[in-house]
Amino acid sequence: MNGEGNGPENIVLVGFMGSGKSTVGRELHHRLGYPWVDMDHEIERRVGKSVAAIFAQEGEDFFRKKETELLQELAEHREAHHIISTGGGVVMREENRALLKRIGFVVWLDAPFEIIHERTARNRDRPLLRTENPAALIRTMLETREPCYHAASHMKIETAGLDSTEIATGIIESARYFFTRRA
Ligand code: S3P
Repeated sequence: MNGEGNGPENIVLVGFMGSGKSTVGRELHHRLGYPWVDMDHEIERRVGKSVAAIFAQEGEDFFRKKETELLQELAEHREAHHIISTGGGVVMREENRALLKRIGFVVWLDAPFEIIHERTARNRDRPLLRTENPAALIRTMLETREPCYHAASHMKIETAGLDSTEIATGIIESARYFFTRRA
């Protein structure tokens, strides 16, 4: 991808917790050489606390404001190529959904409940899933959020059965097509 013209050729990954946004983001960063922004990490760096500590001490609203602020900055950065891995809840605000599409080509990494459940059970970093019955909560959240991922994205990839290299290849090809058509 070498499009100089029409807007930033950023690739933005959205999807539920555990859908592979960070892993695939890192893979795209290595393959394309574009700087990679992992929004959770960037917010942690700016606030000086982990996402879990931000939720516990400042509250979820504070975190959501930080997400929107960061998206606004990324939307204003008109020239750069970036790979952006978002947090799973970023699509919940309508304002964010509009910003995401201004930032670049938005890809929804979709994974089935079983995979999400298995991956998120492996670590306790996610404050929203620190509950007695994470499985039930995941099911409800997947259902509530699905229309938001749909509305926020240009393309969906069903990731089950694909590894991160295959997913990245699909994204690179589709992004090339997207940016060429848009130019
Ligand atoms: C959240 C997802 C997390 C993180 C925060 C809230 C969510 O990011 O932003 O814990 O609301 O789904 P990952 O999707 O990278 O786990």
